[in-house]
Amino acid sequence: MALYTMKEILKDAQAKHYGVGYFNAVNMEMTRAYIAAAEACQSPIIIGTAEALLPYGAFEWLIPMMLEQARRAKVPVAVHLDHTYRFEVLMQALRAGFGSVMYDGSRLPDHRDNVRASAEIVKIAHAMGVGVECELGSVGGLSDESGKADAVIYTEPKDALAFVEQTGADFLAVSIGTQHGVYRATPKLDIPRLRAIRGAVDVPLVLHGGSGLSDDDFHNTIAGGISKINVYTDVILAAKRAVLNHPEADYVDLNRFAEDAMRKATLKKLRLFGSAGMA
Ligand code: 13P
Repeated sequence: MALYTMKEILKDAQAKHYGVGYFNAVNMEMTRAYIAAAEACQSPIIIGTAEALLPYGAFEWLIPMMLEQARRAKVPVAVHLDHTYRFEVLMQALRAGFGSVMYDGSRLPDHRDNVRASAEIVKIAHAMGVGVECELGSVGGLSDESGKADAVIYTEPKDALAFVEQTGADFLAVSIGTQHGVYRATPKLDIPRLRAIRGAVDVPLVLHGGSGLSDDDFHNTIAGGISKINVYTDVILAAKRAVLNHPEADYVDLNRFAEDAMRKATLKKLRLFGSAGMA
């Protein structure tokens, strides 16, 4: 199948009110698990990597492999770059062939810096036909190089339209109570806030921190206007459990057990998001 862009995939999701999963991968097995899950339920899917994951898999070999698997898939697959902060990494991503990228300026201390830097990336990426996801507010839970996790700052609906207009962002990541990683307490999502943001802007909305949420959370956020849901922790925890359950296995078999567990965990999410059968 021809390669899809995130824009094409999310356009359909937005029109038909279902969610599309985004999953981070650092190797062939993870990529294969995600695409196999999508093919098993006839779902579109978005896969990619992130700046923080680059030590595990450099663009030079990871992205050609992902693009090749995406092209061979029997369902629409888009290759996207998740949370990226540095200008030079974003420029390398454009050369590597991502169909879309996320510039995350949400950690910058001044909102105006987020607007300025996001607009700069959007201008360059658009000139190369690449869509850009930006974040307003801050989802939190991601740790920096010193291991310090960032704080949660809720997205203000009143700022959303100006942010999208000033930056030219194609997709908006919103902060409504989710966090990256494992939740220490049950998350309480602010659905009225999400609905207000949805009412203010037309671009597809993205929910980060999709691991550890309840079925109701997915139902409510998709009904409230979310089109893309990012998941990572739940998938790698499924792989970890599979590895721990097979202490006798050698490295090659462990890879297989882990891949199978990741495929099943992904399939579960795709069914919950309502994207099964939409390919
Ligand atoms: P989780 O690891 O919490 O699923 O979050 C994934 C994510 O939002 C990646 O951008």
